Amino acid sequence: MKRTTMFKVCCFITVCMAVSVWAFANMPGPDPEDLWQYITQKSPYTKWSFWPDHQGMQPGRAPHGPLHKVYVNDHAVNSAKPPVQYGAIAVKENYGEDKQLKAITVMYKVKGYNPDAGDWFWVKYTPAGKAEKFGKPGGCVGCHGTRAKNDFILVHEFE
Ligand code: HEC
Repeated sequence: MKRTTMFKVCCFITVCMAVSVWAFANMPGPDPEDLWQYITQKSPYTKWSFWPDHQGMQPGRAPHGPLHKVYVNDHAVNSAKPPVQYGAIAVKENYGEDKQLKAITVMYKVKGYNPDAGDWFWVKYTPAGKAEKFGKPGGCVGCHGTRAKNDFILVHEFE
């Protein structure tokens, strides 16, 4: 390889590494307050996408309530097959029959957080952002774990 080509390749690799370090440095830790800050201030989840097969308000099952919307960030929607990319976040707004927001449940894929169960960090927030449950709650992990092959995701089927 010519020296100039070598130099260009090295520059390219350095830039890629810097960008990925920067991107991850900007991601919250597995901490309910950091994550709330991130999804409401730094990267408001209401500006994210829906899965193509799960758009807008949808009927749901127990224990989450009768109606919901599931917002997903780029790391999630850009994942063509399970497991999804690290940094993926799904934010689920849970509504009552009266269309009032009752709770916000979140799954956040954090490298090394819980390798036995898909490395997901789970949180259930009140609409005001108070974390009622978080971490690796047995309920969340157990029920979503029935679809471990689909990376614990229930509303979207990867093809
Ligand atoms: C008894 C089963 C069950 C338990 C327990 C459960 N979930 Fe779910 N979850 C579901 C089902 C079913 C869906 C699909 C949407 C619906 O029907 O509401 C879902 C969807 C979700 C989604 C949308 C992403 C996806 O998987 O499609 C998130 C986020 C979520 N749940 C978070 C949580 C959190 C956080 C907890 C624990 C506090 C939890 N869930 C506990 C059954 C469960």
